[in-house]
Amino acid sequence: MAKKAEAATQRLDDLLFSQGFGTRRVVAGLIDAGLVCIGGEVRRDPGERFATDGLAFEVEGQPWTYHAKALVLLHKPAGYECSQKPAAWPSVLLLLPPPLRQRGVQPIGRLDQDTTGLLLLTDDGALIHRLTSPKKQVPKVYEVTTDRPVDEHQMQRLLGGVMLDDEPTPVRAEGCEITGERALRLTLVQGKYHQVKRMVAAVGNHVVGLHRSRFGALVLPDDLAPGKWRWLDGPGAITGPQ
Ligand code: URA
Repeated sequence: MAKKAEAATQRLDDLLFSQGFGTRRVVAGLIDAGLVCIGGEVRRDPGERFATDGLAFEVEGQPWTYHAKALVLLHKPAGYECSQKPAAWPSVLLLLPPPLRQRGVQPIGRLDQDTTGLLLLTDDGALIHRLTSPKKQVPKVYEVTTDRPVDEHQMQRLLGGVMLDDEPTPVRAEGCEITGERALRLTLVQGKYHQVKRMVAAVGNHVVGLHRSRFGALVLPDDLAPGKWRWLDGPGAITGPQ
């Protein structure tokens, strides 16, 4: 008879540590103080093992679900930097709860301080590498507001390719639609520094508002307010059916 696959289990102290609830000493203190509940029961044995898949638990009354890797979607508001050591504005990481910061989530690519919209963050380094690799060509969609009217000529130049400083060859948009008198929807597959702003400047216009509405197969949900975040089930939500 075929053997049933064993569910992965972890010691309570290891699993809390892996989920970002603090150093080993802090985690031991939380358990000892009766601040960790699973299945409605206070758990005081740091060595007790639990099946981790989908495990729901509470730490200091805060409900949490076990995730082997963290992958979250944030609706980035303006006024936050995507850096861990921000220069002038607070870091987007401050919009996430401490356990996510503690386990080292980082943005997958960057948005400028004044750009709003869909930002992904993860502690999965391989996934960051995969999704930001120039070879992968993940499409990103930006809603662009300009200070001068947009026209067919600008659109054709963006699609045909424009020269940017430091780029040896023209950089082209994968898609470009005029969505208003001073509005464009641009799809880019690269992730170059200030790419939208520089491309729009190269065709003689100027970006006054920038919002990312899509990353790969993932669309920013209408019901996720600026500054709010949610878990994603896995990279499949971004890459779509393979
Ligand atoms: N392009 C830009 O110019 N800024 C962003 O934040 C993202 C893409």
